[in-house]
Amino acid sequence: MATHTIGIIVNGATGRIGGTQHLANALAPIRDEDGLPAGQDRIMPRLMLVGRDAVRIEEAAKKHNAEWTTDLDKALADPAFPVFFDAAATHQREAVLEKAIAAGKHIYSEKPVSLSAAKGRDLLRAIKARGVKHGAVEDKLGLPGLQKLAHVVSSGALGRVLSFRVEFGWWVFDGTEVPCQRPSWNYTRAGGGGLILDMYPHFRYVIENLLGPMRRTVTALSTATPERIDEKGARYTVDVEDTASTVIELESGAVGTILASWATRVRRDDLLTFQIDGAKGSAIAGLHRCYTQTNAQTPQTAHFSVAKDLNTDYRAHWTEATAGVSPVNPYRIGWENFLRHVATGAPMQADFSAGVRDVQFAEACYRSMKDRTWVDLG
Ligand SMILES: NC(=O)c1ccc[n+]([C@@H]2O[C@H](COP(=O)([O-])OP(=O)(O)OC[C@H]3O[C@@H](n4cnc5c(N)ncnc54)[C@H](O)[C@@H]3O)[C@@H](O)[C@H]2O)c1
Repeated sequence: MATHTIGIIVNGATGRIGGTQHLANALAPIRDEDGLPAGQDRIMPRLMLVGRDAVRIEEAAKKHNAEWTTDLDKALADPAFPVFFDAAATHQREAVLEKAIAAGKHIYSEKPVSLSAAKGRDLLRAIKARGVKHGAVEDKLGLPGLQKLAHVVSSGALGRVLSFRVEFGWWVFDGTEVPCQRPSWNYTRAGGGGLILDMYPHFRYVIENLLGPMRRTVTALSTATPERIDEKGARYTVDVEDTASTVIELESGAVGTILASWATRVRRDDLLTFQIDGAKGSAIAGLHRCYTQTNAQTPQTAHFSVAKDLNTDYRAHWTEATAGVSPVNPYRIGWENFLRHVATGAPMQADFSAGVRDVQFAEACYRSMKDRTWVDLG
């Protein structure tokens, strides 16, 4: 048995997602469990954290038993670290990925992998020209609820898929009465923010992986909360959308909707729900749970009554689906796949081109709103 050490530069290690999911829940545990099995061998991550604030990055490095620097160029020049991972703020991504590709690093990136599909394709071309390995974070497929839903769909139990519905969001405070729960860059174009760029990459790969390719989309966007208070207490203008309604037609002919908002109060089963209606049955998943209803379980509703509440519990005739779940953290699944891909050439489903397709979908939604028309996704 041999141990292959892979040096990984983690850019944005002090951020919310970099620090928690990627470091604390994926990379550090893989290393601390004596590395990742790959055939007869093991893959051992060696971590180099990069950030702008020396105090914070040193603190993160101590916490995760990692090396650290504030000098990205120095890290990129070090051949002991052949992998570059970016989980820093979105607006700086294209520039750092360009540098990392030029330095010959294997590339793994948080979403969105770029701010436009054209730029994403440029980056992909550069990656291919350097012959380095590449991957994009597509963690939501690893959510327990969506894993169960995928299992139900692939079993064929739903029959022909007729339609689907994604509902997503919760209330994000504007900072006046209650502090805002999301970083202020999420609400500015210059910061790479906006609900579409933030969430629609996820919806693209979830929908296409479960139901097949999208053909076209039409989207309406709005900004429910035009002013917010930032982390320093300063008032700023929101110049991106925080609410979106989307219709999607799949290549199969099935049509679905996404209703997403940072300005909605939740009274549904979960913060994200994904319902698929099929000829033989329906399934609905939240982040963790999934329920199905067969034709035999479906209430034989004939009409509704304006005079009397029929007192029907429409949630009663559903069966919980529990199969198909991996207990592994979704971000860790991504890292395990990517590290095996780098070390052994194992296939990487969520490669950089998948990340570019995610951006293409987000961009199509913006274009649809701007041109007030359907946009093809072919
Ligand atoms: N896959 C997911 O589920 C998921 C969830 C949240 C965020 N994200 C993505 O991860 C990235 C980070 O999001 P977050 O919520 O952790 O944000 P965050 O604001 O908590 O962290 C951003 C990080 O970027 C750094 N940073 C900010 N401006 C920078 C600049 N100009 N140059 C270099 N570094 C800079 C910050 O110091 C911090 O380390 C975003 O691209 C976001 O889209 C993905």
